[in-house]
Amino acid sequence: MIVCVCERVSDRDIERHVQGGCDSFDSLQLETGVATCCGRCEDCAREVFETSSAAQGGIIIPLKIAA
Ligand code: FES
Repeated sequence: MIVCVCERVSDRDIERHVQGGCDSFDSLQLETGVATCCGRCEDCAREVFETSSAAQGGIIIPLKIAA
């Protein structure tokens, strides 16, 4: 499933980055560009990231900065 249309990032892309050691949403954005254009995908992208991180046994520290 495509999560971010602007940057063509799928749920599998996010999972792959988490499995590769990406441990924060900010890092995911730097690595993939997800949610850095129009921003409409951010909630979904964060949800996929958090689910993937939890599946990896990581500790989730939600961080959302209001613009
Ligand atoms: S759909 Fe992800 S930034 Fe636009």
